[in-house]
Amino acid sequence: MKRIIVGNWKMNMDLKQTATLITRLRTQITNPTAKVVVCPSFVSLVQASEIISSQKALLELGAQNINDNDEGAFTGEVSGPMLKGLVGYVIVGHSERRIVFMESNELIARKVAACIRNKLTPILCVGENTNERQEGLAKRTVLDQLEQNLSEIIPSEASKLIIAYEPVWAIGTGVNAEPYDVEEMALAIYHYLVNKYGTETADKIPLLYGGSTNGDNAASYLAINKIGGLLVGGASLNYKVFSSICQL
Ligand code: PGA
Repeated sequence: MKRIIVGNWKMNMDLKQTATLITRLRTQITNPTAKVVVCPSFVSLVQASEIISSQKALLELGAQNINDNDEGAFTGEVSGPMLKGLVGYVIVGHSERRIVFMESNELIARKVAACIRNKLTPILCVGENTNERQEGLAKRTVLDQLEQNLSEIIPSEASKLIIAYEPVWAIGTGVNAEPYDVEEMALAIYHYLVNKYGTETADKIPLLYGGSTNGDNAASYLAINKIGGLLVGGASLNYKVFSSICQL
């Protein structure tokens, strides 16, 4: 399976900065060892898409959110049919959405289904917080999130998923998860998927790691058994660092 590196730009980069960053990434990423996906804000997606195609950049696009409905009176929201054709991927269940925007597991399940229904690949983020890890509940939390977040899709759709393990305490904090803890969780997620969907399907679902990844630690996470790529936040805004991660 080809490695996947996803850059989550979060609420950063206006139109001009987006154009500059995409252009710089195009110049630097000439020989990627991974499928490279960048996720700018909704506002920048159309422009980013035009630059990627006109410059033939080796980049794909993802959105940072989706509404669970396909259309209707949902002021300020963006739906699957609007994103279809513009992006290939959507980040769903990011801990910032779960915590700051109070998204429930049920809503996230419906967002995963909205992605699948609209032929968009959901990058489903799961991860425990500090208390859950300290109390020895990390695995239980993550597997419970998966069980609830995957409740709206049928088994034949599961091979279209990407799952990102992102411990909440490692996101944007500079606190690094130990590779053996990440491996333990990746194996737990993999075995959960094998039980639920069978080995053939589980083997098709890429597992990413995310949380304070950077140019110095990316290789050590990519070397972990069952980890097939990274979801990079802060470091994806630095074109030199992000490009080097994509060409490790
Ligand atoms: P970070 O963010 O790399 O800045 O920790 C990761 C993420 O939020 O996906």
